[in-house]
This record gives sequence, C-alpha cells and structure tokens, in this order.
Amino acid sequence: MNDNLHQLRCFGCGATISGTEARPDFRCAACGDLFEVEYPGWKQRQGPDRPNPGALKWLWRERRCSTEALDQSGVWRFRELLPILNSFGNAVTLREGNTPLYALPRAARALGLDQLFAKHQGMNPTGSFKDTGMTAALSIARERGFTWVACASTGNTSAAMAAYAARAGLRCLVLIPDGKIAWGKLAQAMDYGAVTCQLKTDFDGCVKVLTQTVKQAHIYLLNSVNPYRLEGQKTPAMEIAEALDWTVPDHLIVPGGNLANSSALGKGFRELRELGLVARMPRISVIQAEGANPLVRSLATNQGTAIEPVQANTRATAIRIGNPASWRKAARVIQDTGGWCLDVSEAEIAIAKAELGAEGLGCEPASAVTLAGLKKLRADGRVAPSDSVVLLLTGHTLKDADYTIDFHRGTLLTTEEAAGNESAIQVLRRDAVAVYPNPDAVLAAMKERAG
Ligand code: F0G
Repeated sequence: MNDNLHQLRCFGCGATISGTEARPDFRCAACGDLFEVEYPGWKQRQGPDRPNPGALKWLWRERRCSTEALDQSGVWRFRELLPILNSFGNAVTLREGNTPLYALPRAARALGLDQLFAKHQGMNPTGSFKDTGMTAALSIARERGFTWVACASTGNTSAAMAAYAARAGLRCLVLIPDGKIAWGKLAQAMDYGAVTCQLKTDFDGCVKVLTQTVKQAHIYLLNSVNPYRLEGQKTPAMEIAEALDWTVPDHLIVPGGNLANSSALGKGFRELRELGLVARMPRISVIQAEGANPLVRSLATNQGTAIEPVQANTRATAIRIGNPASWRKAARVIQDTGGWCLDVSEAEIAIAKAELGAEGLGCEPASAVTLAGLKKLRADGRVAPSDSVVLLLTGHTLKDADYTIDFHRGTLLTTEEAAGNESAIQVLRRDAVAVYPNPDAVLAAMKERAG
C-alpha cells in the first residue's frame, strides 16, 4: 500500500502519463480533458495481497494520538491512500483536516429526518475545505522544486494557497475577480504575503489569463485542474466514514462551483469501496446557485455530455462560476452514485445559512446551498425520513461577515428576491439594536426579543 507509484489518467480519452509529464495547464495533450491520479499498484494487490482494512483503520485512528506533524494532519493521516510524494518529508502541513461531523438536531426535526449531520470543512486552518487539497498539491510543488505557485480564485483557494506557500517558503501569485470576493478571503491572501492581482473580469476570466500565464513562466498551477488537489480533497470521505464507524451515509450533499470537490469526494468514497474499507457509496448530490448553475442545465438538457457556460451571478461569491473545469467528473459522480443536481435561489441560500447559524454552525453562503438543496430533496420525497444525510459545509462564516450582517440588517435581498419568504426571513433576523447604556434598557431589549 505504501508504494509511491502513481500515474495520471486522462478522464476523457484514458491516456496515461507520469506525474512529471503533465503540461503546465494540466490538460491532456491528446484531448484537452483533465487528469485523475491513479495507483496501478492497487489493482495488482487483489486477493491475499490486498491491504488489511482492519489494520489500516486501526493505524489511521492511532495516528490521532501521535505528536508527528504528518500524523496530526487529517489528510496525511490517510497517506496510504494518497502515495503521491517521493518522500513524505516534503509534505507541507498546517494540521488540516480532522474536522468535526456535527449533528443538526433542529434542522433534522424540521425536515423530518432521523440523522442529519454537517461535515464542517470551514474548521480547517484557513477556514475552508481548500486546505485539504492545498497540502497535497503544494507539497508536490515543493518536491518538484518550483519556486512560484499560482491560482485563480473566488477567494478560498487563494487564501489556502498563500498560507501553504508561506509555510513552504514559496512565492505565490493570486488572480481574483475585482470586487467579487469576500473581504475575509482577500485579507488572508495579503496576510500570507501573496502577490495579489485583482483583474477586471470574473473568475472564469481569471482562469483564462492564468492558464496563459503558466505556459509562459515556470509557475506551478494550483487550481483544481491540478489532480493532486483532489487527492487531498478526497480525504473527508475517509473522515466521514470513520466518524460513522466505517459505514457511509445514504446521502452526501455538496456545493458546486468549479465542481472539483464533488469529484474528489466521489473518488474518495469509490476508492474506499474498491479497497474493501466500506461496503457501498453514498448518493452524492451537487447544489448550485440559480445564477451560477451550468451543471444543472447540462444534466437537464443533455445528460451531462456537454456544458454551456453561463454568465454567473450570485451573492454566494465562492461559487460564482459559469464555466466549471471539473464538470465532466462531477457529472459522472452524480450519475454513478444516483445523486441529483439542483439549484437554489438567493433567498433560499440566505435562509438556510441563517438556520445553520442558529444551530451554532456558521458557514459561508456557498456552504448553505447544501441545506437549501436538502429541503427541496426532502419536499419532493427524493430523500426519505430514514435516510442518513451529511451536508458538506465548505467555508467558515467569518470569511464573509458582510453577507451575514446584511442579512440580519435586512439589506441583503431585494424585494423581488425575498418575495414569498418574508416571514421565514423575519423569524431568523437578529439585527443588533441600539440601546441606552443602562441595565433597564438592556433588560427591556432582551425581553422584547425573547421569542
Ligand atoms: N464552497 C466554497 C466555500 C468554495 O470556496 C468553493 C470554491 C466551493 C464551495 C465550490 O467548490 O469549486 O470544488 O465545486 N471555491 C473556489 C475558490 C473556486 O477559488 O476558492 P468546487
């Protein structure tokens, strides 16, 4: 299991190349599609040579008590399942992963579900799930001797990349859409010393510029077209299975932007099943914002065989993406697992986010699409009361405090957007009140808002 022998297989035409043969834009030279990391050695290990699932599960759990940095990482703790480095000594870690799986009793009750959980990836070192992918891909950059790394981002990838690059002593270049990312994320890139360029275009435009840039200079691309990112991002599948005592939930619900994360989690669960570590896969569903829903449209109109880019627009800026790179991989995961792809409105996102907040679990608007999507799946019976469901919360609430404040002040949504949801919104709003500085006034304010 620990033979560091991986190759890259093209998702489109099946061509295989070695890791070092990948082009700077990580596109297949033959067909232009993306690659997936695969481990040919695993196939040869069928029969008696197969890894012992019990021993691996014991080892991974045991590592949580270790004082070694690598063992304390929720990604590298599972390193037998991502043998991508020549030397694990090259791993750059901020002790990412090992994020909590929280029960959501109030939302479960409201939806008539027995078991509803949130896997909170916002509890990673830089506040989003991107850390799990970044530790993997940035470690490759370091091992292969790059001095510069780069990404185009709606904010979280750049925050994660900048932090890991700083830890590794590498320089990093960030391209972000001007005015369309949350301040918390921009602040992180600055804090960690990135060269940050705000381009007068959207995320899709930033990707285009960066793809051309990395062909002209020796820069390692860390967008999720880089298949090593997905090796790190698959590890929450292991954590979820472990937290549920190596069973899998009936249903996993993931937000969809550039569509790498759903692909990565699908790969994670598939590999667990192939290696005999779990018995089956969960259904994996992807939820997009109505204003940035190219995969929803693709699956509805052509069964996911082609994608028509859209001009993306949503306040969930993390998933404001109209031309997602990993759409083919995500479509396959949804179809193979029997999941669904839906979109949700701006009001539905805002309400779901406030409901999660009221359970003590703050998250980004992009993460809240999962609960909004689950409500729809419950309403039309696609999710049954006895189904166990895990929502993947991708980012921390403090990433985008402006959104939360605007919601509670009542300035987030337009009248048209809120139409039909006014009372649901009113119940959830908790604006700060101006109160005279004396106890009577404070107690009166408390009483007034006690409901
Ligand atoms: N949730 C959050 C908080 C994100 O930051 C992203 C993507 C997603 C969901 C969607 O994940 O792209 O794998 O489908 N953010 C990217 C970024 C694009 O640049 O930070 P995906």
